[in-house]
Amino acid sequence: MALRFITAEEAASFVRHNDNVGFSGFTPAGCPKAVPAAIAKRAREEHEKGNPFQIGMFTGASTGDKLDGELSRAKAIKFRTPYQSNKDLRALLNARETHYFDLHLSELAQYLRYGFLGKVDVAVIEAADVTEDGEIIPTAAVGITPTICRLADRIIVELNKRHPKEIRGMHDIYEPLDPPFRREIPVYSPSDRIGVPYVKVPVEKIVGVVVTEEENDGGDFTPLDDTTLSIGRNVAAFLVSEVKAGRIPEAFPPLQSGVGNVANAVLGCMGENQEIPAFNVYTEVIQDAVIKLMKEGRIKFVSGCSLTVSNSVLHDIYANLDFFKDKLLLRPQEISNNPEIARRMGLIAINTALEADIFGNINSTHVSGTRMMNGIGGSGDFTRAARLSIFTTPSTAKEGKISAFVPMVSHLDHSEHSVKVIITEHGVADLRGQSPVQRAHTIIENCVHPDYRPLLTQYLEMGIKGQTPQNLKCCFAFHQELAASGDMRNTDWSKYNR
Ligand code: COA
Repeated sequence: MALRFITAEEAASFVRHNDNVGFSGFTPAGCPKAVPAAIAKRAREEHEKGNPFQIGMFTGASTGDKLDGELSRAKAIKFRTPYQSNKDLRALLNARETHYFDLHLSELAQYLRYGFLGKVDVAVIEAADVTEDGEIIPTAAVGITPTICRLADRIIVELNKRHPKEIRGMHDIYEPLDPPFRREIPVYSPSDRIGVPYVKVPVEKIVGVVVTEEENDGGDFTPLDDTTLSIGRNVAAFLVSEVKAGRIPEAFPPLQSGVGNVANAVLGCMGENQEIPAFNVYTEVIQDAVIKLMKEGRIKFVSGCSLTVSNSVLHDIYANLDFFKDKLLLRPQEISNNPEIARRMGLIAINTALEADIFGNINSTHVSGTRMMNGIGGSGDFTRAARLSIFTTPSTAKEGKISAFVPMVSHLDHSEHSVKVIITEHGVADLRGQSPVQRAHTIIENCVHPDYRPLLTQYLEMGIKGQTPQNLKCCFAFHQELAASGDMRNTDWSKYNR
């Protein structure tokens, strides 16, 4: 059947008020751009006429500004899941103008198949190629593309000419059966291929193909500073000491590394440390540092869900496909983040915390317990299942006014039961096998900023009896002091402990 080429505006006319729309991509990589802009324009026009126009949105994870940003500014999003990181969308969520459902990224595809989130009416998919028999080649990410294509009534393809057709073969598309028919997912090492290199759809569901040439949104990483560099070096030194102690096999297990500047720095430092052997990566987002280390031979193979790299690095990969094609694989997030595979392969998982408490609980998502930052992303998928789960964070934020370590986290994403090691620029807290009080001493001595060590030691002494010596009158005093005076260092326990 011949494909129908249409404009972005025509494509947007297939999206109706109250539709649930699934978008391809994961981070700005792989996201459609022209059609979301046209949907946003349509929403604005309908709003000007006094008509309602809002959609429910399913994405792989965060997206680019041309998707989340445009639709947020047009007030076109009624419901959104999962992870996001766009400032305009964040403002809407925290104003409760958009309902946001934050969940583990590995779970979204099956949530959709189970019908937990309603119907998928339309799927908008960025593709490097689409054939007349319905084979779609995704671009720089896979996300939930196979599932939304299968479930949607209508599929719109955004054919992006920036991505060469020759990337066919870089994706491994596999959707597990649902229980009770599901079997083990047969990935035993990062390079195992278990699916096909395309997403196959009934071609009659493709209502139109929109041709674009737009670059991915997104900037470069912040240059490394002393803090991120020290965190990275501490992680690398800790992993070397684990190998020497025989707790990590010399054939280094695959690594998962989280999002953001700290994660990028950690990988860079691991690559530089020659005591760490060349390793494999089984992760969610593949950031710039990974590509550099692949070229240097420090990373042998990388399996991920998305090439979340700067545009210059993406073009470099495309220009050197012969080098990368047998060293790099993109999978659906249901597979890249699958806890079954993470547990089987014994991953070393390294993610970033927003806030931790002195007993080892982690808040990855909520500033002062109320304001959503981004979302849990894949951090929970990996943390619970990994052989070694590490959290990194700078010891303070906002010029030292905020301590990353507090008596009790103001929101809980990863509990003390899953967190094995915490690392800051000051050092490493190895929490394995330690009681809550031992953990608190280890964290205060090794990770907390010196400005906050006396305060947190005093807090521990004020704790009521019990396995975990919290003081329920003071456990949020740091947060209250931040709200009152703008600086957690001003905390006076006597003000709260009465
Ligand atoms: N309270 C308030 N603000 C805080 C804070 C705290 N405890 N800790 C950090 N911040 C602020 C920083 O000051 C910075 O603000 P700015 O953007 O205004 O400069 C911002 O939060 C980001 O901090 P930064 O140190 O640059 O962290 P990052 O880029 O490494 O991101 C997370 C950190 C936690 C936000 C990010 O890793 C995340 O969203 N994680 C959850 C999802 C996840 O782990 N995914 C990976 C799974 S594969």
